[in-house]
Amino acid sequence: MEKLPKKHTVDLRKKHIGSNTQLFFHSDPLKIVRASGQYMYDEAGQEYLDCINNVCHVGHCHPDVVKAGTDQMALLNTNSRFLHDNIVLLAQRLVTTLPEKLSVCYFVNSGSEANDLAMQLAQSYTKQKDVISLEHAYHGHVISLISISPYKHNSIHGEGCPDWVHIAPTPDTYRGKFRDTDYPGENLATRYASEVKSCVEKIEKEGRGVCAFYAESLQSCGGQVIPPQGYFQQVYKIIHDAGGVCIADEVQTGFGRVGTHMWAFQANDPDLVPDIVTMGKPMGNGHPLAAVITTREVASAFQLEYFNTYGGNPVSCAIGLAVLDVIEKESLMKNAIKVGDYLYGKFNGLMKKHEIIGDIRGIGMFLGIDLVVDRHTREPATAAAKEAIYRLKEEHVLFSADGPHSNVLKFKPPMCFTMENADFLVEKLDRILGKICQDKKEKRLVNLEKRKLEIRSHPTEPKRIRLES
Ligand SMILES: Cc1ncc(COP(=O)(O)O)c(C=O)c1O
Repeated sequence: MEKLPKKHTVDLRKKHIGSNTQLFFHSDPLKIVRASGQYMYDEAGQEYLDCINNVCHVGHCHPDVVKAGTDQMALLNTNSRFLHDNIVLLAQRLVTTLPEKLSVCYFVNSGSEANDLAMQLAQSYTKQKDVISLEHAYHGHVISLISISPYKHNSIHGEGCPDWVHIAPTPDTYRGKFRDTDYPGENLATRYASEVKSCVEKIEKEGRGVCAFYAESLQSCGGQVIPPQGYFQQVYKIIHDAGGVCIADEVQTGFGRVGTHMWAFQANDPDLVPDIVTMGKPMGNGHPLAAVITTREVASAFQLEYFNTYGGNPVSCAIGLAVLDVIEKESLMKNAIKVGDYLYGKFNGLMKKHEIIGDIRGIGMFLGIDLVVDRHTREPATAAAKEAIYRLKEEHVLFSADGPHSNVLKFKPPMCFTMENADFLVEKLDRILGKICQDKKEKRLVNLEKRKLEIRSHPTEPKRIRLES
């Protein structure tokens, strides 16, 4: 295939690709031409350490996954209207990782499709429409999901929250409605769950019933939020008592990323049983493959004939099976614990050194570094986070910042990330955060000197001006 000079690629993209299509490092975008494991390479051959691609879960272009896909592509690809072993074997493998009740699979092509289908299932089962979701949540790009995703409908060009959607506070004990500092020693699960109860009461007061509660098991776009232990158990009871269904969105967090369990909801509470689990991204290691898994009871209420041209095709399912094999064969969940715990400790070490770090949170290979202007107020350091990711890129490390204030550095790399990679990353982060703090201090000192000069040249100025050091 023709290789274009980078400038030509940029020009063609400007000309033919929708201008609102998101691009990393907008002012100086990267052109990545190949990748392997946890590394990506640009057109000049420069290597980048990938800390953000949770999609290429078992490593970019993993040879086993590539082989499974190409072998099957050379043999047959068709749709699920024909019998084929791959689809049933993948379904069988997936359900063994989930609570027993979750035994019926629907295959789709993206996380959005999975969450949209989950809504259809929930509506068929409950005959209701009202959905409860969480602040800052993102569940997909189709209209039904933009409606339940404040991350989208509350953004500058969003159209706001529709009346059938009810938003409960994110169970974020660091920056949310109820903070650990305001309730020292208290598990805030009950306070946050009672907010969901208030949504249910509002729906019922308006004469309707609850259809579904949607939540990511660990909120990613919301800023790597880890809900307090027991939160989901309490919420699920509230929703079930109201006749609704509980949907666990595992599109970002699934497939062993947390290390201790295959699914992040199990890490929060091993006994939790959602009614529907949606999964995608890592499932196909970059190939468009996603699924909805539900109970026989919910599935049997979904009577409208289901057909999906690509969902569950033999090639996608061969890839899905290969991904599961590699997770097992290479002990990637164990690796997520080993490297994740090591990094969590190292990041905490950085927090002792750099006051710009307000909080470190996460499990396994799903970690967040919350940057703050002031540790006491927890004011988010949005500009510093942006600067950090640009400086990391200059050091050939790929990171992103997310959360409602874009101040949380997100770590969710391919699961083959090593201890050596971790040391390399920490060394770079240490230097960069040190430099950002130093620059901030120098800027403050310059401002301070300027202010002193101003006061000297205006001696009548009131004395109430306090000089912050
Ligand atoms: C939690 C979550 N759910 C659903 C989606 C939608 O997945 P897709 O982009 O594959 O449609 C995303 C995508 O970022 C996501 O993060």
